[in-house]
Parts: sequence; C-alpha cells; structure tokens
Amino acid sequence: MRVTLTAIKADIGSIGGHIRPSVSLLKEVERSLQPHLGSDFIDFRLSYTGDDIAILMTHTHGTDNPLIHQIAWDAFKAAADVAMKEGLYGAGQDLLKDAFSGNIRGLGPGIAEMEFEERKSEPFLLFAADKTDPGAFNLPLYLAFCDPMYCSGLLLSPNMFKGFKFEIMDVSYTGGDKVIALVAPEELYDIAALLRDPERYVIKAVYSRTTGEIAAVASTTRLHNIAGKYVGKDDPILLVRAQGSFPATGEILEPYALVPYVGGFMRGSHQGPLMPVKQNSSVSFFDGPPIVSCTAYCVKEGKLSEEADAFDHPFWDYVREIASKKAIELRRQGFYGNAMLPYGELEYGGIVERLKALEGKFEIRH
Ligand code: F6R
Ligand code: MG
Ligand code: MG
Repeated sequence: MRVTLTAIKADIGSIGGHIRPSVSLLKEVERSLQPHLGSDFIDFRLSYTGDDIAILMTHTHGTDNPLIHQIAWDAFKAAADVAMKEGLYGAGQDLLKDAFSGNIRGLGPGIAEMEFEERKSEPFLLFAADKTDPGAFNLPLYLAFCDPMYCSGLLLSPNMFKGFKFEIMDVSYTGGDKVIALVAPEELYDIAALLRDPERYVIKAVYSRTTGEIAAVASTTRLHNIAGKYVGKDDPILLVRAQGSFPATGEILEPYALVPYVGGFMRGSHQGPLMPVKQNSSVSFFDGPPIVSCTAYCVKEGKLSEEADAFDHPFWDYVREIASKKAIELRRQGFYGNAMLPYGELEYGGIVERLKALEGKFEIRH
C-alpha cells in the first residue's frame, strides 16, 4: 500500500516564556484532529518538544495535499485561540499568515512529508528539535548516511553499497526552493563543503541509490524568509525510514551522541549543544539547551504502532550529562565569539542599531 507520512510542527504559544505548550493547547489540537480520524487520514499522533507541537498524520493523499494541510492549519489556528485566551507567551507565533491558501508551506509551520510503498515492516523515526534551526540535522544525517565510522551498514549491507543521494537546499534564497542533488560517496567532499554551513545549506531529503526510495525528509522552513524579519527560530522536524536499504535505527541515532553545537539557544542567537531528550520535554537552562526528541514507530497499512521513545534509555542519560557540560562550558564565555551567532543569524535587530549608532562615533586617525 502507498502511504504518506505528514509531520507538521508549530510554536503556537507556551507557558512561562518559551518552555512548553499547555495541556489545554494539546487537547485543543487533538479535539480539532479527532473528527478527521479514519476518514481524511488513517492515524495521527501528537507530541511536543520544548515549545513546539508536532502533529504526525498517516494517509493516502500524497504529499502537499490541500485537505491534510488545511486540517493541520485549522488545528493549530484553533489551539492558537486557546493560547491567546490563556495568555500564553507567543500565542499563534508561527502562524504567520491569516488565511490558508491550499498549502501550509510558506505559512509558518515546519513540514516534513514523504510518500512511499509500505515495506512488509516499515520502521521510521520522527525527530523534533527546539531552540535550533533546520541545519541542526545536517551533521547527524551526514554521519548516518555517508560515514561508515557511524553507519556500519555502508560496509556490511549490500543494500547500501551504492550509497545515498542528498538534496540540499540553500535556505538563504528567497525566490523559491534552491536545491542541489549530490551523491555519496562520489561527491562526499562537495556534500561536506555545503553542510559545514548549517545556517545556509540544509539537507532537505535523502534517497537510497539502491532502490531510489526516499529515506529521509526534513523541514526547511525559514520563518525569516516568510516574515521578512526574524519572528522565532525555525525549530525543525525530520522523518527517517530505518532498516533494510536504509541505516539501522541505532546507526541513525548514534551521531546524536556527539551533541554537536548548533545555532539557537537563548533568543535564537547563540550556539549550544544539541541535547537528545525524551519526548515531551521542556527547555530550561538559558532557554535551552537546544533539544532533539526522537520517536520510533512502525506503520502498517497506514496504522501507526505504539511509539518507542528512542532517547529514553540510560545511555542517553550519560549523553545528556555531556551535553549539559558542553552547554555550561560554552556559556562561560557569554556573548563572546562563538558563543553567539554571527549578525545575520541573530533573532534580534537591536544590536545592529546599536552598532550603527556607534559607527557614527568612530573617528579615523592617521
Ligand atoms: C524557539 C524560541 C526562541 C525564541 C527567541 C525569541 O522556540 O523560542 O528562538 O524565538 O528566544 O524570543 P522572544 O520572542 O521572547 O524575544
Ligand atoms: Mg519559541
Ligand atoms: Mg520552539
């Protein structure tokens, strides 16, 4: 059977700043989705990661389906009204346009969708991150799909010997989707040359070169490009299929033990280690650190299995401790150097005005 997975996330308001959504927000999203269950879509799940709510839907309508997008949009809109009534912080923040116009892309929420023929067993992972941006998935995806130091399947499994194709997007471009396709292993260095700049080049999708099938798809929304100014970080989501001709679940997870420094953290303007957390975790220290959750499922004829929280394991407690240490270490240097993002990526324009004012006070001495 051909099935479509649609994952859509948005920050529509949160408690006590940017910490987490309220239970009533989640209930409102659920209330709004429930009537469509079994008719417009086959199954759905709801979760949150920091202040972002993620809706996962399964259906047979393919990607970019107006009905599916509208259902998600309406659910977020209804919950944003609740957030407004509750006086939650940033109520409706990611819903940048007033009216729905057939596709949720370009309206604010982040979206990752893939359509495929279900395998006999179809395991997949839903990653959701908060206080960071879509480039946060660059390194983990690169390591899981290109590097035999992380993905032993590239050496051991004939299903993967041909490697993978990457679609990489230049998210600085505002005239449409500017995408390049590159293949690993032949173009590994080109791929790395782009991915080393995660604020600009972002993995949009990965495909198996053995079967041509889609392996992974990530949200690449830049709220900045939609609103014309920073209105919040583009906290991303990612869907990854596992096993068979794709990396094993554990190979996809392993790179997260690196806790790489990513852009985001406090005021969307700093760098911080990407901490793997359990599903439905809030943020805390310095409005962070940047967090990523991962829920594993199998899907059969569109029905989702029970979920397994991939980062809910004693191993990841140890990794979380490393992430805390890395966060404290970098925070020791406050605003200085690499602790803060470069000007173009700061969520606040205020510092630019400050520097403009100072510029006039400089004098040239010969
Ligand atoms: C991401 C997030 C941050 C905020 C940023 C600006 O979830 O919450 O990136 O967008 O801290 O916050 P405010 O709007 O409070 O200035
Ligand atoms: Mg937020
Ligand atoms: Mg967020």
